[in-house]
Amino acid sequence: MARARAAVVMAAGQGTRMRSALAKVLHPVAGRPMIHYAVREALALGCAPVVVIVGHQREAVEARLAADFPGAPVVTAVQAEQRGTAHAVACAGPALAGFAGDVFILSGDVPGLPAATLAELDAAGGDAAVAVLGMKLADPAAYGRLVRGPRGELLSIVEYKDSTPAQQAIDEVNAGVYRVHADFLFDALGRVGSDNAQGEFYLTDIIGLSVEAGRGARTLVLGGDRALEAAGVNDRADLAAAEGRMQARLRARLLAAGVTMIDPARVVLGDGVEVGPDSVLEPDVTLLGSTRVGRDCVIEQGCRLVDTAVADGVHFKAYTVTEGASVGPDCTVGPFARLREGTVLHAHVKVGNFVETKKAELFDGAKASHLTYLGDATVGAGANVGAGTITCNYDGKKKHRTSIGAGAFIGSDTQLVAPVAVGDGAYVAAGSTVTEDVPAGSLALSRVRQQNIEGWVARKQARDAGQE
Ligand code: UD1
Ligand code: CA
Repeated sequence: MARARAAVVMAAGQGTRMRSALAKVLHPVAGRPMIHYAVREALALGCAPVVVIVGHQREAVEARLAADFPGAPVVTAVQAEQRGTAHAVACAGPALAGFAGDVFILSGDVPGLPAATLAELDAAGGDAAVAVLGMKLADPAAYGRLVRGPRGELLSIVEYKDSTPAQQAIDEVNAGVYRVHADFLFDALGRVGSDNAQGEFYLTDIIGLSVEAGRGARTLVLGGDRALEAAGVNDRADLAAAEGRMQARLRARLLAAGVTMIDPARVVLGDGVEVGPDSVLEPDVTLLGSTRVGRDCVIEQGCRLVDTAVADGVHFKAYTVTEGASVGPDCTVGPFARLREGTVLHAHVKVGNFVETKKAELFDGAKASHLTYLGDATVGAGANVGAGTITCNYDGKKKHRTSIGAGAFIGSDTQLVAPVAVGDGAYVAAGSTVTEDVPAGSLALSRVRQQNIEGWVARKQARDAGQE
């Protein structure tokens, strides 16, 4: 019978070294707040409940957790004053009252640790009351050091600020991630003091306590590239490094799934973004939020897609920007197009350069190829919207809708003053200002009739010469 699992995620600190108004665990990595990853992996491991220790900006942290993990067994416990990591975990006591299994203790500022590594840690711990995740680092920096006895057994963890020069030479450090038997944990936390360099209650003291009590302490030490899985974020340089590692991981996943990248290092991905096989991502492409791209798509240089659903065979030409849009199969968009919230392109739609759309639905085969604004509009199948067409959707107070029928032809430089409808197959002459509905099959023409004044230029030149 597998033992029950619960988790405690420490996330109450402000993160002073970030020099930020935003709580550290809310800083994003690959588009999600750091805290998201620790909670997600704990849930993936089967932990229930996952108790998040909150303090600084607790309302904002709680709101994020509620939004990211609706219905999941995630609860929060408040640590009003940050008196150290042992004190933080002790704050989870009431939420874990009566829980008798294994408690996984994670830090909210370690965004790269997968559930599989936590399972490995559990296995490495065996029947010891405490299992500690370690990292072997060329530069052990200010991490807590793993102090071992003559047979290599873990004796204690000493914080950098409390360490001797000999201990500072130790290259195995504490990642701040543990698996602890619940019965031992809360008893041991009651015995941790704060007589140390920082005057804090150190969670790391439970290792020495477990060894003394004969309950054992084992380690899983990650070396090489894997050591960085467990790297924490304490300042902006660490944040940039964590982002870099996460990007490398997300790109590797897409490359393995059959996506071509001309220069992978110049592609930026949000966690959760999907791209289908045989799609090509050119340099400086950014795909964020809930964006999903189908197969056989080409996304040219400099495109930025946020929360955008893209079907198969779509071609985004260079420097196109989208947000909250849905793009159907075999559409061509850009270069330099902007698809805003609520844009829906059905199949084979063409949106060309310097076209902006917002709450606009373009049906199959519709075209708006140049210099156009379509807001609060529907464009019927096969309709052609000429260069420079503008839907005048805003009267200064309210937005109004424009409807363009199937197969309609809107001449260049037309203003459609909404609310207005152009019927199926109707034509609007170039340069028209359309303020009234155009019936299906008719031609609307609202510009002033052209007159040519013959000989005017010669007469003007003669006049001008006479004045000199
Ligand atoms: C801790 C470990 C250190 C380890 C390092 C790994 C201790 C005493 N030290 O040090 O051995 O090498 O992590 O990253 O545990 N937090 C609270 N409440 C508190 C204090 C901290 O919630 O009262 C949270 C922080 O918000 C953070 C996490 O716990 O998410 C770690 O705290 P931090 O102050 O960064 O610990 P380190 O000094 O890095
Ligand atoms: Ca830390």
